[in-house]
Amino acid sequence: MIELAFSILASDFAHLADEVKAAERGGGSIVHVDVMDGHFVPNITFGPPMVQALRPVTNLPLDCHLMIENPDEYIPAFAEAGADLISVHQEVCRHLHRTLQLIADHGALPGVVLNPATPVDTLIEVLPMVHYVLIMSVNPGFGGQKFIPFAVEKIAYLAEIRKKMGLNFRIEVDGGVAHDTVASVVQAGADMLVAGSAVFSKGKTEQNARKLLKLANAAAPDKKARKV
Ligand code: DX5
Ligand code: ZN
Repeated sequence: MIELAFSILASDFAHLADEVKAAERGGGSIVHVDVMDGHFVPNITFGPPMVQALRPVTNLPLDCHLMIENPDEYIPAFAEAGADLISVHQEVCRHLHRTLQLIADHGALPGVVLNPATPVDTLIEVLPMVHYVLIMSVNPGFGGQKFIPFAVEKIAYLAEIRKKMGLNFRIEVDGGVAHDTVASVVQAGADMLVAGSAVFSKGKTEQNARKLLKLANAAAPDKKARKV
């Protein structure tokens, strides 16, 4: 099943609850929360209080993408605030296995994220324990950046490894996913699509989400729902 994880980073913060509801009406089924610390990435966004504020607004799963150093210090607070899925960057985790275990121990589904320059092969050993792998298709830090085309090959390679290893983790893609790029990532094997500016623009959130999902489903290699 292809799902749209809409990134609230691009939404109108003054009307956040309405924005979330509009994206949900358009078919978005995961709320993607971009957490940035001003150290790992050159931007600062929000922390656990934002997750706590979102929790009563929607029943959709909250997907926290932690672009922060020392994620172990903050994972308990995000889980407690209501995060359902928590992903950490491979690049900041000295003990990635321990960090993924920590996420699971706090009752959230663990994910791992790769920057564009980080090879897929660095994850082989931990793949059996993740719920999802997030392939960045921009360098993290800002919304509205240009899609990096070689992310498509990384997604395809990861999908091939998943098949070879007989695993079921999901493949998420994040950055520059829009009407002109969505087909390529879906065809390569991505099934959790993060989109910020393509969803929250021109005051047409609901329509944008619906259109993006329609294009994604039309490009799906296997139209039968693939539940993982
Ligand atoms: C980038 C973030 C993305 C970003 C996506 O660091 O992780 O989730 O908000 O925004 P768009 O879809 O505009 O590229
Ligand atoms: Zn993100």
